[in-house]
Amino acid sequence: MNSFLPWLLWIAVTIGLIVYFAFRLQSNDQSLFLPGPTTDGHYQIELDCQACHTPMMGIKEQACLDCHGADLEAANDSHPKNKFTDPRNADRLEKLDARKCITCHIEHRPDQTHEMGLTLPEDYCFHCHEEIAKERPSHENYGFQSCANAGCHNFHDNSALYEDFLLKHLDEPDFKPNVTLPPRRDLKAELQEDQLIEFFRPLTIADANHHENLESERSATIEDWANSSHARAGVNCTDCHATLSESGQTLWTDTVNHTGCRDCHENETKGWMKGRHGMRQSRHLAPMTLGQARLEMKPGRHHESLSCNSCHESHAFNSEKAAVTACISCHDDDHSRAYFQSPHYQLWQNQVSTPDQPETGVSCATCHLPRVSRQDPDGTVRFHIEHNQNWNLEPNEKMIRSVCLQCHGLQFSIDSLADPLLIRSNFLGRPSRHIESLELARRRIEKTQK
Ligand code: HEC
Ligand code: HEC
Ligand code: HEC
Ligand code: HEC
Ligand code: HEC
Ligand code: HEC
Ligand code: HEC
Ligand code: HEC
Ligand code: HEC
Ligand code: HEC
Repeated sequence: MNSFLPWLLWIAVTIGLIVYFAFRLQSNDQSLFLPGPTTDGHYQIELDCQACHTPMMGIKEQACLDCHGADLEAANDSHPKNKFTDPRNADRLEKLDARKCITCHIEHRPDQTHEMGLTLPEDYCFHCHEEIAKERPSHENYGFQSCANAGCHNFHDNSALYEDFLLKHLDEPDFKPNVTLPPRRDLKAELQEDQLIEFFRPLTIADANHHENLESERSATIEDWANSSHARAGVNCTDCHATLSESGQTLWTDTVNHTGCRDCHENETKGWMKGRHGMRQSRHLAPMTLGQARLEMKPGRHHESLSCNSCHESHAFNSEKAAVTACISCHDDDHSRAYFQSPHYQLWQNQVSTPDQPETGVSCATCHLPRVSRQDPDGTVRFHIEHNQNWNLEPNEKMIRSVCLQCHGLQFSIDSLADPLLIRSNFLGRPSRHIESLELARRRIEKTQK
């Protein structure tokens, strides 16, 4: 009798485990199989294992390229795969196979993960550029640890750091005079061309095609809308609030998410889904809540989730509020809080407190959601507001071309961004670092010209 007991126990435990795993799998919760925490860049989408893994759990390199390839190419990646298909570089690949992303970026290994998801020791440039001191005597005293850590080089994106670029920007003043930001696009005109808004005319309160019951109790909503650029552009309540029932009937819905904005604002929606504000929606996961964040957030808002509305409060859709007030209602780290002491904030206040003031202020959005000129599919170059706030965040030299150079010289910009304390104080005061790259480039060109 006694010898049956362990068997019974074993069977019970096994069945229990099977039921447990089956349940977890059924509920799509595969977090159980994660070997460790996922990097800051990817933890929001970690539950979607298939985003990176094949069903047998190997890595799909193509997935990395599908999400990052276009940005790396646009940044003119200094070490793209095709640099290493040249047979003359075969010996280098033996030391480090730079054709594969996962040589340098593996996952779920926090003990060996450095900034920006790098999982190699930081002096790895050594493997391929051992001879650099011979090729460039100016580099004799630099350690390999410092190549990519000191504002001089990056592995991928050197678009503001390569030699020709430095030479073009020698001797610029720290502060460029009389700068105003580039204008925003004329969305109204563009959408009219697309005939998305068929009967364009400015609307007033009387035109609101809202649900009958709303009028009395929600007058603030209607007033906000009537004063918004949506009403002025002829966008009515049901342009956002209509939904189709299964039988094809148009119904009213109170909830409007990003899919409701996408028809008219495709670029903004796409950008937003690529960064840490909207990336979960791009994988059809539930929106990110503040409680799930790794960065410091304002207390007491744990259950709130991210949407277009996080910044563009309905129904006023006020862009000035979206550019500073909204951000600080969530973000609570030293850098974000310090902004309000910075000279940039002074400039911003001057701008918003005076009507018709030219745009000379620097808001959170000026740096993090910059206005970038891009060619649209129709061939026209227009300014877009880049809604992926990770697009120019890391390595931070990405911000030089997209933001700082509009108003500052290159030397000042490089120095400022190489100074972590200055970033922490949100650019209050002068940089305490001085990066020598521009001088090295100058000396080299002077030597070759002699
Ligand atoms: C953003 C991409 C990404 C997502 C999402 C992701 N992983 Fe991974 N995972 C990786 C990479 C990259 C590696 C490293 C592969 C290597 O070393 O060959 C890895 C490795 C692993 C390993 C092997 C660990 C080891 O040390 O060999 C396991 C197990 C794993 N992942 C499980 C999961 C599970 C389970 C999920 C979903 C809950 C998941 N991963 C989601 C990218 C991802
Ligand atoms: C030899 C090592 C190495 C390989 C191979 C590599 N990376 Fe990187 N990656 C880095 C380093 C180092 C950084 C940190 C920033 C820098 O120095 O450019 C980085 C940063 C990044 C970043 C964030 C910063 C940025 O510039 O966008 C992304 C995204 C990225 N890598 C994607 C990829 C993808 C995708 C692949 C494969 C096609 C890849 N990397 C291959 C070393 C590597
Ligand atoms: C579904 C899209 C998606 C896939 C697949 C994906 N990434 Fe990412 N990755 C992101 C997003 C979104 C971020 C966060 C925003 C950013 O930093 O650009 C990110 C961030 C990163 C970073 C920066 C990490 C940091 O801490 O700053 C690196 C490096 C990176 N990814 C490399 C890879 C590599 C290598 C793979 C393939 C194993 C991969 N990614 C697969 C979307 C993806
Ligand atoms: C796997 C090998 C490999 C690694 C690792 C590597 N490089 Fe390179 N790098 C190359 C190759 C190949 C070239 C092409 C020119 C050459 O043959 O020297 C190159 C070119 C360069 C250039 C010339 C600029 C350009 O755009 O052509 C710079 C600067 C550079 N690397 C810096 C670095 C830094 C900094 C690191 C470390 C963060 C690094 N490299 C890591 C292989 C590598
Ligand atoms: C540009 C798109 C847009 C337009 C136009 C618009 N709304 Fe909304 N509305 C939203 C969004 C976004 C929300 C927030 C939805 C959520 O949080 O789920 C919302 C929420 C609401 C809600 C429910 C939440 C609340 O505020 O109590 C009502 C009711 C509402 N709107 C009525 C109206 C009326 C009436 C009009 C016309 C006068 C209108 N809306 C015009 C986008 C719009
Ligand atoms: C039917 C088309 C349509 C829909 C749907 C729509 N918008 Fe708009 N939106 C417009 C037009 C047209 C303008 C331009 C007004 C102008 O240029 O004066 C605009 C302007 C804006 C602006 C700039 C406001 C300003 O004054 O600076 C924001 C922000 C905005 N929309 C956000 C949203 C969000 C968020 C949603 C979804 C909740 C949304 N829109 C849904 C058509 C639409
Ligand atoms: C509703 C709250 C909310 C609002 C409003 C908001 N954010 Fe965020 N933000 C977040 C969350 C949550 C994350 C993701 C944090 C994480 O993954 O740890 C994030 C991520 C970021 C990141 C990426 C940080 C990184 O290390 O990758 C930047 C930059 C950022 N936000 C800037 C802004 C700016 C600028 C504004 C205003 C224009 C703003 N945010 C408005 C909640 C918010
Ligand atoms: C982190 C805050 C934040 C989030 C989230 C956000 N926006 Fe914006 N958005 C802004 C700011 C700030 C501006 C104005 C920037 C400026 O004036 O340079 C803006 C401008 C816009 C504009 C005007 C574009 C133009 O070129 O004039 C549209 C349209 C817009 N947003 C739509 C959206 C939509 C749709 C979503 C969701 C998919 C969204 N926004 C999410 C902060 C945000
Ligand atoms: C003059 C440009 C500038 C302004 C203005 C600015 N930032 Fe930043 N922000 C940066 C730079 C540069 C970084 C650092 C990127 C890096 O080195 O990783 C950064 C980093 C961040 C991060 C990521 C912090 C982390 O620990 O990963 C957040 C969140 C952020 N900023 C939010 C804000 C908010 C909110 C505001 C306004 C209250 C703001 N920023 C104003 C330039 C700016
Ligand atoms: C729209 C123009 C504009 C942009 C964009 C801008 N700045 Fe500034 N910045 C200024 C002006 C003007 C001042 C001087 C304000 C004053 O002293 O009253 C300033 C001040 C500073 C200061 C403080 C200098 C001091 O002496 O106290 C630093 C540091 C700085 N900026 C760095 C940056 C960096 C880094 C970027 C890019 C991430 C950037 N700025 C983007 C216009 C700009």
